[in-house]
Amino acid sequence: MRRVLLLVLGILIFTSAGMSAAQSGERIKIIFDTDFVMPPQDDSMALMLAMQSPEIEILGITTVAGNDSVERATSDVLRMLEIANQTAIPVHRGADMPLVHEKSDFAVREYGRWYSNEPPPAPPGGYANKKAAPESAVSFIVKTVLTNPHEVTLVAIGPLTNIAQAIRADPGFAKKVKRMVIMGGAIALLPDGSGNITPNAEFNFWVDPEAAYVTLRSGIPIELSPLNVSRKSALTRHWYEKMVETDTPLTRLLKVTLGPRFENEPDRLDFMYDQIAVASLIDPALVSKERLYVDVNIEHGISYGVSVGGRKLWPGAEGARQVDVQYDLDWPRFINMFVDRIQTPLAQ
Ligand code: RIB
Ligand code: CA
Repeated sequence: MRRVLLLVLGILIFTSAGMSAAQSGERIKIIFDTDFVMPPQDDSMALMLAMQSPEIEILGITTVAGNDSVERATSDVLRMLEIANQTAIPVHRGADMPLVHEKSDFAVREYGRWYSNEPPPAPPGGYANKKAAPESAVSFIVKTVLTNPHEVTLVAIGPLTNIAQAIRADPGFAKKVKRMVIMGGAIALLPDGSGNITPNAEFNFWVDPEAAYVTLRSGIPIELSPLNVSRKSALTRHWYEKMVETDTPLTRLLKVTLGPRFENEPDRLDFMYDQIAVASLIDPALVSKERLYVDVNIEHGISYGVSVGGRKLWPGAEGARQVDVQYDLDWPRFINMFVDRIQTPLAQ
Protein backbone atom coordinates (compact mmCIF):
# COMPACT_ATOMS: atom_id res chain seq x y z
CA MET A 1 0.00 0.00 0.00
CA ARG A 2 2.84 2.36 0.96
CA ARG A 3 4.56 1.75 -2.39
CA VAL A 4 1.32 2.57 -4.25
CA LEU A 5 0.92 5.82 -2.32
CA LEU A 6 4.56 6.78 -3.02
CA LEU A 7 4.04 5.97 -6.72
CA VAL A 8 0.88 8.13 -6.91
CA LEU A 9 2.65 10.96 -5.05
CA GLY A 10 5.59 10.73 -7.45
CA ILE A 11 3.28 10.92 -10.47
CA LEU A 12 1.47 13.94 -9.01
CA ILE A 13 4.76 15.75 -8.34
CA PHE A 14 6.12 14.91 -11.79
CA THR A 15 3.03 16.04 -13.69
CA SER A 16 2.56 19.22 -11.65
CA ALA A 17 6.22 20.18 -12.16
CA GLY A 18 5.89 19.77 -15.92
CA MET A 19 2.59 21.66 -16.20
CA SER A 20 2.36 25.34 -17.01
CA ALA A 21 0.64 27.55 -14.47
CA ALA A 22 -2.27 27.83 -16.88
CA GLN A 23 -2.58 24.03 -17.16
CA SER A 24 -2.38 23.66 -13.37
CA GLY A 25 -5.40 26.00 -13.00
CA GLU A 26 -3.41 28.79 -11.27
CA ARG A 27 -4.18 32.20 -12.78
CA ILE A 28 -1.11 34.03 -14.07
CA LYS A 29 -0.88 37.42 -12.33
CA ILE A 30 0.37 40.02 -14.79
CA ILE A 31 1.15 43.70 -15.12
CA PHE A 32 0.48 44.70 -18.75
CA ASP A 33 3.00 47.38 -19.84
CA THR A 34 2.05 48.82 -23.22
CA ASP A 35 2.45 51.58 -25.81
CA PHE A 36 -1.25 51.05 -26.42
CA VAL A 37 -3.28 52.34 -29.36
CA MET A 38 -6.74 51.17 -30.41
CA PRO A 39 -6.97 48.65 -33.30
CA PRO A 40 -5.53 48.13 -35.84
CA GLN A 41 -2.56 48.46 -33.45
CA ASP A 42 -1.37 45.09 -32.12
CA ASP A 43 -1.24 46.20 -28.46
CA SER A 44 -5.02 46.51 -28.33
CA MET A 45 -5.61 43.06 -29.78
CA ALA A 46 -3.03 41.65 -27.35
CA LEU A 47 -5.00 43.20 -24.47
CA MET A 48 -8.23 41.77 -25.88
CA LEU A 49 -6.64 38.31 -25.79
CA ALA A 50 -5.38 38.80 -22.22
CA MET A 51 -8.79 40.03 -21.01
CA GLN A 52 -10.59 37.15 -22.75
CA SER A 53 -8.29 34.50 -21.25
CA PRO A 54 -9.32 32.98 -17.90
CA GLU A 55 -5.74 31.84 -17.32
CA ILE A 56 -4.68 35.48 -16.85
CA GLU A 57 -5.37 37.93 -14.02
CA ILE A 58 -4.47 41.50 -15.01
CA LEU A 59 -3.37 43.29 -11.83
CA GLY A 60 -2.94 46.57 -13.69
CA ILE A 61 -2.04 48.24 -16.97
CA THR A 62 0.88 50.65 -17.28
CA THR A 63 1.33 52.91 -20.29
CA VAL A 64 4.47 54.12 -22.04
CA ALA A 65 5.30 56.31 -25.05
CA GLY A 66 6.02 54.27 -28.17
CA ASN A 67 3.57 53.74 -31.01
CA ASP A 68 2.14 57.10 -30.00
CA SER A 69 2.34 59.41 -26.98
CA VAL A 70 1.80 58.14 -23.45
CA GLU A 71 -1.32 60.34 -23.33
CA ARG A 72 -2.72 58.53 -26.38
CA ALA A 73 -1.81 55.16 -24.87
CA THR A 74 -3.54 56.06 -21.62
CA SER A 75 -6.62 57.60 -23.22
CA ASP A 76 -7.13 54.67 -25.61
CA VAL A 77 -6.64 51.93 -23.04
CA LEU A 78 -9.08 53.56 -20.61
CA ARG A 79 -11.71 53.54 -23.35
CA MET A 80 -10.89 49.93 -24.29
CA LEU A 81 -11.55 48.82 -20.70
CA GLU A 82 -14.98 50.45 -20.83
CA ILE A 83 -15.81 48.70 -24.12
CA ALA A 84 -14.61 45.38 -22.68
CA ASN A 85 -16.56 45.83 -19.43
CA GLN A 86 -13.30 45.59 -17.49
CA THR A 87 -13.17 48.97 -15.78
CA ALA A 88 -12.02 47.39 -12.49
CA ILE A 89 -8.54 47.01 -13.98
CA PRO A 90 -6.43 50.04 -12.90
CA VAL A 91 -4.45 52.07 -15.46
CA HIS A 92 -1.24 53.85 -14.41
CA ARG A 93 0.36 56.44 -16.68
CA GLY A 94 4.08 55.90 -17.35
CA ALA A 95 7.01 57.48 -19.14
CA ASP A 96 6.32 60.11 -21.77
CA MET A 97 9.84 59.84 -23.23
CA PRO A 98 12.63 57.24 -23.43
CA LEU A 99 15.48 57.42 -20.89
CA VAL A 100 18.00 58.98 -23.30
CA HIS A 101 16.80 58.78 -26.92
CA GLU A 102 15.92 62.26 -28.26
CA LYS A 103 13.41 63.18 -30.99
CA SER A 104 15.10 63.37 -34.40
CA ASP A 105 14.16 64.11 -38.01
CA PHE A 106 14.52 60.37 -38.66
CA ALA A 107 12.09 59.58 -35.81
CA VAL A 108 9.55 62.10 -37.18
CA ARG A 109 9.89 60.68 -40.72
CA GLU A 110 9.67 57.05 -39.66
CA TYR A 111 7.08 55.12 -37.63
CA GLY A 112 5.83 55.99 -34.15
CA ARG A 113 5.05 59.21 -32.24
CA TRP A 114 6.83 58.45 -28.96
CA TYR A 115 8.12 62.03 -28.86
CA SER A 116 4.69 63.63 -29.34
CA ASN A 117 2.98 65.69 -26.65
CA GLU A 118 -0.10 66.54 -28.69
CA PRO A 119 -3.51 65.91 -27.07
CA PRO A 120 -4.78 62.42 -27.97
CA PRO A 121 -7.62 62.06 -30.47
CA ALA A 122 -10.96 60.84 -29.14
CA PRO A 123 -11.08 57.02 -29.13
CA PRO A 124 -14.04 55.19 -30.74
CA GLY A 125 -17.15 56.14 -28.75
CA GLY A 126 -15.43 59.17 -27.22
CA TYR A 127 -13.04 59.73 -24.32
CA ALA A 128 -13.45 57.33 -21.41
CA ASN A 129 -15.21 58.30 -18.19
CA LYS A 130 -12.76 56.02 -16.36
CA LYS A 131 -9.65 57.94 -15.24
CA ALA A 132 -6.06 56.80 -14.84
CA ALA A 133 -5.03 56.06 -11.24
CA PRO A 134 -3.05 58.89 -9.57
CA GLU A 135 -0.09 56.54 -8.82
CA SER A 136 2.60 56.49 -11.52
CA ALA A 137 3.35 53.38 -13.55
CA VAL A 138 6.77 52.89 -11.95
CA SER A 139 5.41 53.24 -8.41
CA PHE A 140 2.62 50.75 -9.17
CA ILE A 141 5.00 48.24 -10.76
CA VAL A 142 7.51 48.40 -7.87
CA LYS A 143 4.86 48.32 -5.13
CA THR A 144 2.93 45.43 -6.73
CA VAL A 145 6.04 43.28 -7.19
CA LEU A 146 7.48 43.99 -3.73
CA THR A 147 4.18 43.16 -2.02
CA ASN A 148 3.70 40.01 -4.13
CA PRO A 149 7.25 38.62 -4.34
CA HIS A 150 7.82 35.93 -6.99
CA GLU A 151 4.15 36.02 -8.03
CA VAL A 152 3.95 38.76 -10.68
CA THR A 153 4.74 38.31 -14.38
CA LEU A 154 5.57 41.50 -16.29
CA VAL A 155 4.22 41.53 -19.86
CA ALA A 156 6.08 44.29 -21.71
CA ILE A 157 4.96 45.01 -25.27
CA GLY A 158 6.30 48.54 -25.76
CA PRO A 159 9.56 50.37 -25.09
CA LEU A 160 10.97 49.22 -21.73
CA THR A 161 11.24 52.69 -20.15
CA ASN A 162 8.88 51.97 -17.23
CA ILE A 163 10.48 48.59 -16.53
CA ALA A 164 14.03 49.97 -16.47
CA GLN A 165 12.98 52.76 -14.13
CA ALA A 166 11.34 50.20 -11.82
CA ILE A 167 14.54 48.10 -11.82
CA ARG A 168 16.58 51.17 -10.86
CA ALA A 169 14.01 52.40 -8.30
CA ASP A 170 14.55 49.53 -5.84
CA PRO A 171 17.62 47.25 -5.52
CA GLY A 172 15.43 44.30 -4.47
CA PHE A 173 12.90 44.64 -7.30
CA ALA A 174 14.47 42.48 -10.03
CA LYS A 175 14.92 39.47 -7.74
CA LYS A 176 11.23 39.55 -6.79
CA VAL A 177 9.80 39.55 -10.32
CA LYS A 178 8.51 36.06 -11.14
CA ARG A 179 9.34 36.42 -14.86
CA MET A 180 8.94 38.71 -17.86
CA VAL A 181 7.62 38.23 -21.38
CA ILE A 182 8.95 40.97 -23.65
CA MET A 183 7.92 41.72 -27.22
CA GLY A 184 11.06 43.28 -28.62
CA GLY A 185 14.33 42.86 -30.41
CA ALA A 186 15.43 40.94 -33.48
CA ILE A 187 18.13 38.26 -33.43
CA ALA A 188 20.31 38.01 -36.55
CA LEU A 189 21.63 34.62 -35.42
CA LEU A 190 18.16 33.12 -36.03
CA PRO A 191 15.96 33.19 -39.16
CA ASP A 192 13.95 36.36 -39.95
CA GLY A 193 16.07 38.45 -37.59
CA SER A 194 16.32 41.80 -39.43
CA GLY A 195 15.01 45.05 -37.93
CA ASN A 196 11.80 46.93 -38.67
CA ILE A 197 12.65 50.55 -37.83
CA THR A 198 16.35 50.57 -38.82
CA PRO A 199 18.00 47.80 -40.85
CA ASN A 200 18.76 45.72 -37.75
CA ALA A 201 16.84 47.32 -34.85
CA GLU A 202 13.29 46.47 -33.73
CA PHE A 203 11.02 49.40 -32.82
CA ASN A 204 10.48 48.83 -29.05
CA PHE A 205 14.20 48.35 -28.42
CA TRP A 206 15.18 51.23 -30.74
CA VAL A 207 12.87 53.75 -29.05
CA ASP A 208 14.59 53.07 -25.71
CA PRO A 209 17.81 51.06 -26.14
CA GLU A 210 19.17 51.99 -22.72
CA ALA A 211 15.99 50.68 -21.04
CA ALA A 212 16.23 47.42 -23.01
CA TYR A 213 19.93 47.11 -22.01
CA VAL A 214 19.12 47.60 -18.30
CA THR A 215 16.17 45.19 -18.42
CA LEU A 216 17.96 42.38 -20.26
CA ARG A 217 20.91 42.58 -17.84
CA SER A 218 18.71 42.79 -14.70
CA GLY A 219 18.65 39.08 -13.89
CA ILE A 220 14.85 38.92 -14.20
CA PRO A 221 13.91 35.59 -15.87
CA ILE A 222 13.02 36.79 -19.37
CA GLU A 223 11.29 35.24 -22.37
CA LEU A 224 11.88 37.40 -25.46
CA SER A 225 9.35 37.47 -28.33
CA PRO A 226 11.42 39.13 -31.10
CA LEU A 227 10.62 39.89 -34.73
CA ASN A 228 11.93 36.42 -35.60
CA VAL A 229 8.74 34.87 -34.21
CA SER A 230 6.46 37.82 -35.08
CA ARG A 231 7.23 37.15 -38.73
CA LYS A 232 5.73 33.65 -38.46
CA SER A 233 2.26 35.26 -38.22
CA ALA A 234 -0.06 36.77 -40.84
CA LEU A 235 -3.19 38.69 -39.87
CA THR A 236 -5.11 38.91 -43.16
CA ARG A 237 -8.63 39.84 -44.22
CA HIS A 238 -9.63 36.17 -43.96
CA TRP A 239 -8.87 36.04 -40.24
CA TYR A 240 -10.40 39.49 -39.63
CA GLU A 241 -13.65 38.30 -41.25
CA LYS A 242 -13.64 35.18 -39.09
CA MET A 243 -13.23 37.31 -35.93
CA VAL A 244 -16.18 39.54 -36.76
CA GLU A 245 -18.50 36.62 -37.63
CA THR A 246 -19.81 36.95 -34.09
CA ASP A 247 -21.27 40.13 -32.64
CA THR A 248 -19.66 41.27 -29.37
CA PRO A 249 -18.46 44.68 -28.13
CA LEU A 250 -14.89 43.68 -29.06
CA THR A 251 -15.73 42.49 -32.57
CA ARG A 252 -17.85 45.60 -33.11
CA LEU A 253 -14.78 47.67 -32.20
CA LEU A 254 -12.70 45.67 -34.70
CA LYS A 255 -15.31 46.33 -37.41
CA VAL A 256 -15.03 50.08 -36.82
CA THR A 257 -11.24 50.23 -36.53
CA LEU A 258 -9.61 47.25 -38.28
CA GLY A 259 -12.29 46.76 -40.94
CA PRO A 260 -11.47 49.91 -42.95
CA ARG A 261 -7.81 48.87 -43.20
CA PHE A 262 -8.80 45.66 -45.02
CA GLU A 263 -11.45 47.52 -47.05
CA ASN A 264 -8.70 49.81 -48.36
CA GLU A 265 -6.02 47.12 -48.61
CA PRO A 266 -7.75 43.73 -49.15
CA ASP A 267 -4.45 41.90 -49.61
CA ARG A 268 -2.76 43.45 -46.57
CA LEU A 269 -0.88 41.20 -44.13
CA ASP A 270 0.11 42.32 -40.63
CA PHE A 271 2.40 40.61 -38.11
CA MET A 272 0.85 39.89 -34.69
CA TYR A 273 3.83 41.03 -32.60
CA ASP A 274 2.21 41.67 -29.21
CA GLN A 275 -0.53 39.07 -29.53
CA ILE A 276 2.10 36.30 -29.82
CA ALA A 277 3.84 37.51 -26.66
CA VAL A 278 0.59 37.24 -24.69
CA ALA A 279 -0.43 33.93 -26.28
CA SER A 280 2.93 32.38 -25.35
CA LEU A 281 2.10 33.11 -21.71
CA ILE A 282 -1.23 31.29 -22.00
CA ASP A 283 0.13 28.30 -23.94
CA PRO A 284 3.96 28.07 -23.86
CA ALA A 285 3.84 25.17 -26.35
CA LEU A 286 2.76 27.61 -29.10
CA VAL A 287 6.36 28.80 -29.57
CA SER A 288 9.80 27.24 -30.05
CA LYS A 289 12.61 28.79 -28.02
CA GLU A 290 16.40 28.82 -27.74
CA ARG A 291 18.35 30.09 -24.73
CA LEU A 292 20.81 32.77 -25.83
CA TYR A 293 22.92 35.56 -24.39
CA VAL A 294 21.16 38.74 -25.59
CA ASP A 295 22.57 42.25 -25.36
CA VAL A 296 21.55 45.64 -26.81
CA ASN A 297 23.73 48.24 -28.53
CA ILE A 298 23.49 51.61 -26.73
CA GLU A 299 26.16 53.39 -28.79
CA HIS A 300 24.56 56.27 -30.68
CA GLY A 301 25.59 55.13 -34.12
CA ILE A 302 24.33 53.02 -37.01
CA SER A 303 23.42 50.12 -34.71
CA TYR A 304 21.73 52.08 -31.91
CA GLY A 305 19.09 49.79 -30.33
CA VAL A 306 20.16 46.64 -32.18
CA SER A 307 19.79 43.45 -30.11
CA VAL A 308 22.46 40.78 -30.53
CA GLY A 309 22.02 37.13 -29.53
CA GLY A 310 24.82 34.60 -29.08
CA ARG A 311 25.19 30.99 -27.92
CA LYS A 312 28.20 32.11 -25.87
CA LEU A 313 29.44 35.49 -24.64
CA TRP A 314 31.49 37.63 -27.03
CA PRO A 315 33.79 40.66 -26.60
CA GLY A 316 31.78 43.77 -25.65
CA ALA A 317 28.88 41.71 -24.24
CA GLU A 318 30.47 41.19 -20.82
CA GLY A 319 27.62 41.25 -18.27
CA ALA A 320 24.95 40.13 -20.72
CA ARG A 321 22.65 37.36 -19.52
CA GLN A 322 20.87 34.39 -21.07
CA VAL A 323 17.18 34.70 -21.96
CA ASP A 324 14.73 32.37 -23.71
CA VAL A 325 14.30 33.59 -27.29
CA GLN A 326 11.17 32.65 -29.24
CA TYR A 327 11.95 31.88 -32.90
CA ASP A 328 9.05 29.79 -34.25
CA LEU A 329 5.25 29.63 -33.85
CA ASP A 330 2.53 27.01 -34.24
CA TRP A 331 0.58 29.43 -36.47
CA PRO A 332 -2.63 27.38 -37.00
CA ARG A 333 -3.04 26.70 -33.28
CA PHE A 334 -2.20 30.29 -32.39
CA ILE A 335 -4.58 32.02 -34.80
CA ASN A 336 -7.47 29.65 -34.02
CA MET A 337 -6.99 30.23 -30.29
CA PHE A 338 -6.84 33.99 -30.89
CA VAL A 339 -10.00 34.10 -33.06
CA ASP A 340 -11.89 31.84 -30.66
CA ARG A 341 -11.12 34.03 -27.66
CA ILE A 342 -11.88 37.31 -29.45
CA GLN A 343 -15.28 35.86 -30.44
CA THR A 344 -16.08 34.72 -26.90
CA PRO A 345 -18.80 36.85 -25.24
CA LEU A 346 -17.50 39.26 -22.61
CA ALA A 347 -17.30 38.25 -18.97
CA GLN A 348 -20.17 40.00 -17.14
O1 RIB B 1 8.21 46.18 -33.39
C1 RIB B 1 6.90 45.84 -33.02
C2 RIB B 1 6.54 46.47 -31.70
O2 RIB B 1 6.59 47.89 -31.80
C3 RIB B 1 5.10 46.14 -31.27
O3 RIB B 1 5.04 46.06 -29.86
C4 RIB B 1 4.33 47.34 -31.73
O4 RIB B 1 3.15 47.56 -30.97
C5 RIB B 1 5.32 48.44 -31.48
O5 RIB B 1 5.25 48.77 -30.10
CA1 CA C 1 3.47 47.47 -28.64
